Amino acid sequence: MCGIVGFNGHVQAAPILLDGLSKLEYRGYDSAGVAVRNGKNDVEIVKAKGRLKALYEKTNDGLAMAGDCGIGHTRWATHGEPSETNAHPHCSDDRNVTIVHNGIIENYLELKEMLEKAGYSFHSQTDTEVAAKLIDYYVKKYQKGPIDALSRFMLRVRGSYAIAVLFAECPDEIYAIRKDNPMVIGVKDGNTYMASDVAALLRYTRDIYYIGDNEMACMGKGEVTFYNIDQEVIEKDVTEVKWDVNAAEKNGFEHFMIKEIHEQPRAVKDTLNSVVKDGKIDFTALGLDEDHIRNFRQIYIVACGSAYHVGVAAQYVLEDMAEIPVRVEIASEFRYRHLLIPENSLVIIVSQSGETADSLAALRIAKEHGAETLAIVNVVGSTIAREADHVFYTLAGPEISVATTKAYSAQLIASYLLAIEFAKVREKITDEQYAGYLEELQTVPGKIEKILDDKERIQWFAAKYANAQDVFFLGRGIDYAVSLEGSLKLKEISYIHSEAYAAGELKHGTISLIEKGTLVISVLTQPDLYEKMISNMVEVKSRGGYLMGLTTYGNYGIEDTADFTAYIPKTDIHFTPSLAVVPLQLLGYYVSVAKGLDVDKPRNLAKSVTVE
Ligand code: M6R
Repeated sequence: MCGIVGFNGHVQAAPILLDGLSKLEYRGYDSAGVAVRNGKNDVEIVKAKGRLKALYEKTNDGLAMAGDCGIGHTRWATHGEPSETNAHPHCSDDRNVTIVHNGIIENYLELKEMLEKAGYSFHSQTDTEVAAKLIDYYVKKYQKGPIDALSRFMLRVRGSYAIAVLFAECPDEIYAIRKDNPMVIGVKDGNTYMASDVAALLRYTRDIYYIGDNEMACMGKGEVTFYNIDQEVIEKDVTEVKWDVNAAEKNGFEHFMIKEIHEQPRAVKDTLNSVVKDGKIDFTALGLDEDHIRNFRQIYIVACGSAYHVGVAAQYVLEDMAEIPVRVEIASEFRYRHLLIPENSLVIIVSQSGETADSLAALRIAKEHGAETLAIVNVVGSTIAREADHVFYTLAGPEISVATTKAYSAQLIASYLLAIEFAKVREKITDEQYAGYLEELQTVPGKIEKILDDKERIQWFAAKYANAQDVFFLGRGIDYAVSLEGSLKLKEISYIHSEAYAAGELKHGTISLIEKGTLVISVLTQPDLYEKMISNMVEVKSRGGYLMGLTTYGNYGIEDTADFTAYIPKTDIHFTPSLAVVPLQLLGYYVSVAKGLDVDKPRNLAKSVTVE
């Protein structure tokens, strides 16, 4: 989604702002802009529709903009079409206040009306212009300076935001406020950096301050002061970000997505080893002890998109191994449902970014209902991680491609580990089974490597089917969970319509869509459901469908039915999603490449969905 950067220091700001924005491109955007201060001169604003390249060109790589203090933005349109007028920064007409904004001001229409009555006029369709003018209004009305105006603003608006502000009266300062949208600040060698995402700062510093909800910051040159909404100064600790800078580079791969697919063995291994020590799972770092685990009577898993698909798989594993009831819910539904959460419930929020608006809201609602909460999160220090009672960090490292792969795989591993530990503590498995599961999990990275070694077969198949119009994915049990993810991977980056169905549902309507040549991908890794899946495949075949099977080595009989088969190594039935998903990720990737699409930044999508 939108990205924010800021710089205040002793060198030219615009090239640094553009570099920061380029690190945020992966989040998805449709226009970009920068505003730079040169001492007491007026703020200079340059904006461009489309790719960042246009902004680089307009500013001669930033060199044309003098000044060592500025803010920048990549916009993903919410209010108003993508255009130069709607692009950020926005300012008051006299340039007294200039801002960039991530998020949504929900009551902007009402505020706009109030400001119009006060004499303001508006040129864009955005809520951000309203925000800029409201801040200006408070500065002028109360004459008590930026912090006073910003705290009044925060008390008046509804919605979510991270906002960076330049005030004409403070040429050497940048101000920031946030609520439900991330914003971080780094200080290094007399320079101060700001961004909505750590990835934009890694090149300059790893020592990061997180601005909390309803907090403000004033960034000077090489220093920063934080305030709460009551305008009191607050102290903050620095967090060292351990991510490798190279992890945010392509390192010779054509796209981030294929690089991240190849990083899965490492992501799985690191996540596994972060809690498995000497053959035992140790959840001390999560603050989950055995009494806690024994006490839970119900688990909810709440998430969006691929993270929700992890929940669907985890439900099968947790219920089967630990015999505890699990409900999996889409966060945007969970948050608006009449919830009847029983006592002793654990609500697990799964999120790569830790900033997804609906997942964050679901977390807060779960807490309001008295549930204990656990976040499975990839981004250290993200809002969901900070607000949950317990955090299980996945160690996937920074994920740049919009289509998730390695974070999904690491989330699966986290959920298996929870299931194994819950099963052991609740005495549903023997010590031998416990040891066996952990031993088997250690083999998963190697097995993923093996699938990746055979990627050319999938590449060949993808090229053949790149022009497909509709694709259906079928699976039963945990294979249905994998089908959901395979289908999303294909559609989000190849723009081919695809859907996943529980195979038993086929006859209840969907089969009427199968015609000669329709590609149907069947996932069948579960021995108990294999025969039933084959029957479903035969039904499709007899209606002219073209069948791809995805099964384990040894099930060669499938070739009597399927037109093309991808094989994965055998593993414990609970862990098959970790292997079965890989050929499907590769399929989505190679179809997108064959169609010449923008694999890492698919149209209309954002990496982290911080608005509803
Ligand atoms: O950051 P999150 O894990 O909370 O994001 C949730 C979804 O937006 C995300 O999984 C999305 O579906 C993927 N980018 C799809 O590949």
